[in-house]
Amino acid sequence: MEEQLELNPNSVNGPSESTAPLVDDEPVLSSHALAALKEFLAEQQSHSATVSDAGDSEEVALVSEDWRLSQFWYSSETATTVAEEVLTLCDSVDSRVACIACPTLYAYLKKMDPNVSVQLLEYDKRFEQYGSDYTFYDYNHPEELPLELKHSYKVVVADPPYLSEECLKKVAEAISFLIKPRESFLLLLTGEVQKERAAEILGLHPCGFRPQHTSKLGNEFRLFSNYDPGMRLGGWEK
Ligand SMILES: C[S@@+](CC[C@H](N)C(=O)[O-])C[C@H]1O[C@@H](n2cnc3c(N)ncnc32)[C@H](O)[C@@H]1O
Repeated sequence: MEEQLELNPNSVNGPSESTAPLVDDEPVLSSHALAALKEFLAEQQSHSATVSDAGDSEEVALVSEDWRLSQFWYSSETATTVAEEVLTLCDSVDSRVACIACPTLYAYLKKMDPNVSVQLLEYDKRFEQYGSDYTFYDYNHPEELPLELKHSYKVVVADPPYLSEECLKKVAEAISFLIKPRESFLLLLTGEVQKERAAEILGLHPCGFRPQHTSKLGNEFRLFSNYDPGMRLGGWEK
C-alpha cells in the first residue's frame, strides 16, 4: 500500500530551533527549505477536505485533494444528496453499488448506511485504506478490471477525471462491464460540456440538481441519469 503523506505542520520547527542537538547524519533542512515546506503544508491544509456532514455534528474525513489527479471533492450537500439517491435506488438486500472515481460518495454512503455494499474503483492508492471495498482502476485500461466485478452492480455512479470524449468513452467501457444489462441505475457526474456525449455514448440525460464542490471550479457540473428520478434530483431534463 502506498503510504499517505501525513505531514503534521506542528512537527515542523522553524529555523530558530535548528540549533537543537542533532543526531549525526540526520538530514537537516535549510531555513529556506523549511519555509517552502511550511508554505506547502499550509496550502495542503487549506485544500484538505474534512467535510462536515449536513445533518449532525459528525464529520466525513477525506484525504486532501491532489489536483494532479484532477481531484475535486463534492461539497457536503452534494455528497449527501447523491448518497441519498443511491440509497433510495438500493431497494433490495443484494443491491450492490459501484463508485467509479468518486471517493467522497463512497465515504458518505458508508457513513449514512454502514451496511450498504459499495465498491470504490479509484486510481489513487491512498484509498486502499478501504480494504476490500477498494479496487485499483485506471480509466485507460477498463479491460483490466477484475472478472468478479462483471455485471454485478445494481447502481453505478461515475465521475470521470477528465472532460474529454476519449475519457468518457473509456469510462463507458468500464460502466458496461459493471452494470447488469437493462437492470442497473446509472448516475454520471461530469461537466455540462459532456451533455451531448453522455446522451450519445451512454443514453443519459441531465437532472436539475447541480453538483457543487469544496473548491470553486470553472466548469459547470451536471448530474446525468439513465432513469427518470421523478421529483428527486430536481427532475429529469429529457
Ligand atoms: C473529478 S474527480 C471526482 C471526485 C468526486 N468529485 C468526489 O468528490 O469523490 C476525478 C477522480 O478521478 C480519479 N482519477 C485520476 N486519474 C485517474 C485515472 N487515470 N483513472 C481513473 N481515475 C482517475 C481521481 O483520483 C479523482 O478521484
